[in-house]
Amino acid sequence: MRASVLHAVCLLSAGLVYAIELDLNDKDSIISAGRTILSHTLSIYNQNSNEPGWIPGLLPMGYTANNYYWWHSAVMFDAMIEWWALADDDSLTDTISVGLAYQVGPDFDYLPPNQTRSLGNDDQSFWAAAAMSAAERGFPQPSNLNVTWLQLAQNVFESQVARWNNPESCGGGLKWQIISFNAGYNYKNAVSTLGFASLAARLARYTNNETYTDWSNEAIQWLFDVGFISSNGTRPAIYDGADDTTNCSSINRLEWTQNAGLALIAGAYAFNYTPTRSPESLLNTARVISRDTFAQSYGTADGPQPAAIQEVACTPNGKCSLDNRFMRASLARGLARARELTPDNNYTRGMDGPVTGTTYEDIDSILRRSAEGAAAQCSGGGSGNVCGMDWRASEYDGYEGVGEDVSALEILMANLPRKALGTMNTTAEGGTDESSASTGSGAPSNENEGDSGDSNAASAFTVPVISMSIALLGALANFL
Ligand SMILES: *[C@@H]1O[C@H](CO)[C@@H](O)[C@H](O)[C@H]1NC(C)=O
Ligand SMILES: *[C@@H]1O[C@H](CO)[C@@H](O)[C@H](O)[C@H]1NC(C)=O
Ligand SMILES: *[C@@H]1O[C@H](CO)[C@@H](O)[C@H](O)[C@H]1NC(C)=O
Ligand SMILES: *[C@@H]1O[C@H](CO)[C@@H](O)[C@H](O)[C@H]1NC(C)=O
Ligand SMILES: *[C@@H]1O[C@H](CO)[C@@H](O)[C@H](O)[C@H]1NC(C)=O
Ligand SMILES: *[C@@H]1O[C@H](CO)[C@@H](O)[C@H](O)[C@H]1NC(C)=O
Ligand SMILES: *[C@@H]1O[C@H](CO)[C@@H](O)[C@H](O)[C@H]1NC(C)=O
Repeated sequence: MRASVLHAVCLLSAGLVYAIELDLNDKDSIISAGRTILSHTLSIYNQNSNEPGWIPGLLPMGYTANNYYWWHSAVMFDAMIEWWALADDDSLTDTISVGLAYQVGPDFDYLPPNQTRSLGNDDQSFWAAAAMSAAERGFPQPSNLNVTWLQLAQNVFESQVARWNNPESCGGGLKWQIISFNAGYNYKNAVSTLGFASLAARLARYTNNETYTDWSNEAIQWLFDVGFISSNGTRPAIYDGADDTTNCSSINRLEWTQNAGLALIAGAYAFNYTPTRSPESLLNTARVISRDTFAQSYGTADGPQPAAIQEVACTPNGKCSLDNRFMRASLARGLARARELTPDNNYTRGMDGPVTGTTYEDIDSILRRSAEGAAAQCSGGGSGNVCGMDWRASEYDGYEGVGEDVSALEILMANLPRKALGTMNTTAEGGTDESSASTGSGAPSNENEGDSGDSNAASAFTVPVISMSIALLGALANFL
């Protein structure tokens, strides 16, 4: 048996060149791979940092043909906070804190005037998500602001509630853009509404205030009602959005990993905090979308199995925009949260078609395949640490940038042993107690008692029924 597995492994691994060594069963190996990726990310972020006029929190102009947008660095900082917590690495504390604090804007709600031209509800919510991560992880409070990470996230929530658009059109929802003269003001979309819903779900759990639950549920219900989330038919989907001048009657059916990821985040936190009030079917819909759309099954001798995550709307045709290249970071995070915040029971168990895996089996399989693919892709550039885009390709595909890096970093981190996410009662709050924060240990480990109990990835990987693909991947990881 062992011999035949090894034989299969040899066949599989032929053609894979790993510049980054990765053994997914070894925490140190994952951290080492993550550090290599981060070194490239930081070289981009800091490339002008010694020059006059450098602005903390922004990615450099001119690095790519199209300049990075403001929200891109929020996704980067959010990944760095997860890194700080899961890798016990304090080396980026100042970088993160200074960047996140510099961009808060005059009203401490992540609406800095410099960004008005492009600042949509979704952009704002990615900064709030990073601030929320800082709160949940017990990241040291900003030293130069009289406001906590939690308050920043709450301020963003308040400013978005005020923009909830009902009954003007489409029966509710958030417009994409905030400013009426920006292109996209007449568009309501999934990412803005899911950004709001996921922030609200996180705030509810963190503060124990069900007002946030009400809003999260309202936003999710609207997404189903308007048809942006469809759980109907053989292939559920989350669609991009619709013009609100025609009452959202004509839906743009593009699908992105980012929306599936945000839906997983909203569903996972909601389930964790108030299982009885969590929106029916959101978690399962998002899970099935993640597996069947973005990690499309393919035939094997053992039947269909999940594959590495792909941005299906653009990777196959080679037309992924700068925005698109950041999107899988959200899906990786969403899968990690779904696994750590929800129990493996019938609520989350697949009842949905040919692939009958549970949430845990699906997610482990997707995360492992994707991480292997990402590591294989992070072999570009002169130093062999530049990440490409296509996690299914066996060779570096020539893409390069912060989006590719943070997506790869997030998928690696999703394979690390989990640490409990704090709430107001379990983390240093208001910057008064930094003793737990400064160790990088995040929250006390008893927080998730009674939930999945899955605070350690190793246990997630030893689910009772280990599918052939997982066993094979384990062998592959050990072999390489
Ligand atoms: C806004 O732009 C000005 C001019 O470039 C710069 O000095 C300032 O630091 C920027 N502020 C933020 C929050 O980015
Ligand atoms: C900081 O906030 C507290 C509480 O809101 C307030 O009393 C204090 O004056 C603030 N300090 C500064 C420097 O703004
Ligand atoms: C617009 O759409 C909403 C939600 O789908 C619906 O309730 C409302 O009746 C529609 N309004 C018009 C004028 O069609
Ligand atoms: C935090 O503690 C307060 C006071 O004991 C309690 O009412 C509240 O439910 C707790 N919040 C959470 C999120 O556990
Ligand atoms: C809960 O949050 C809402 C929204 O921010 C706020 O208006 C309300 O006062 C909060 N309730 C409690 C008990 O803190
Ligand atoms: C679901 O799909 C079926 C068949 O396509 C259709 O008849 C039904 O109206 C749909 N239901 C909803 C809620 O969209
Ligand atoms: C879970 O579903 C299975 C199959 O439908 C059923 O036999 C079992 O009793 C269910 N378990 C619980 C705890 O509901």
